[in-house]
Amino acid sequence: MDIKKTFDEEAKIYERTSREVNIYFDEALDFLVKNLEINQNVKILDVCCGTGILTDKVLKSYPNVSVTGVDFSSGMLEVAKARLKGYNFTGVLGDVCNEKTFENLGQFDIIITSFGLHNIHGYENKQQALKNIASVLKNGGQYITCDILKGETQEIEQSYRQFQYEWLKKSYDEKQSQEWMSLLQEEDEQETFENNVKLLKYAKIENVKLLWQKQFLAIWSGVKNIN
Ligand SMILES: C[S@@+](CC[C@H](N)C(=O)[O-])C[C@H]1O[C@@H](n2cnc3c(N)ncnc32)[C@H](O)[C@@H]1O
Repeated sequence: MDIKKTFDEEAKIYERTSREVNIYFDEALDFLVKNLEINQNVKILDVCCGTGILTDKVLKSYPNVSVTGVDFSSGMLEVAKARLKGYNFTGVLGDVCNEKTFENLGQFDIIITSFGLHNIHGYENKQQALKNIASVLKNGGQYITCDILKGETQEIEQSYRQFQYEWLKKSYDEKQSQEWMSLLQEEDEQETFENNVKLLKYAKIENVKLLWQKQFLAIWSGVKNIN
């Protein structure tokens, strides 16, 4: 599946569908924003920033910070740039799996990402993406993410799928909900929490803590440690 093309096509309707498809979308993002470790005029990187919904919440809560957003979909990034015009936001078009994307970005105090990294397919690509991301995080800097998880067992995974379907049915009829379920199955490659911790450890992000979880949506954070 061509994820970039999918998001280029989804960009114009993402504003609405993000709430209809992603469970507890605003509740989770608001929790993440409240848990940012802001103690000065920090520089933040929003990885897979999409249309800038998370960045928007950050810049409105903390007017003194600056945010750089990276995304490989020009469609999504254009929406972010239009939304964040007049704010301290820089949009960078690039693939997070490619180390060149990060070459001239400088170093960041905090890295945030929401509903993004599960879209990267293949464990090795996820490792590469996290290595690239961690390379621009200052030592001691906070990494915090909100993303979907895979169930630890088949039963748990099945109950997550059922919950996702019920969530979709709040906004769509049965046929449309089933179509969304098929699309999500193709588009999403989420990992268990345990694997996410391993991926972060590989990128030298340690002390990983699960801060919040509802169903298969969770928020976790870690600290860059290169000692
Ligand atoms: C589900 S959207 C989430 C957007 C935003 N973070 C939010 O919470 O609304 C996933 C985003 O990740 C981006 N993305 C997926 N894989 C990527 C990659 N390898 N490099 C850069 N961006 C990527 C997509 O283009 C899309 O904008």
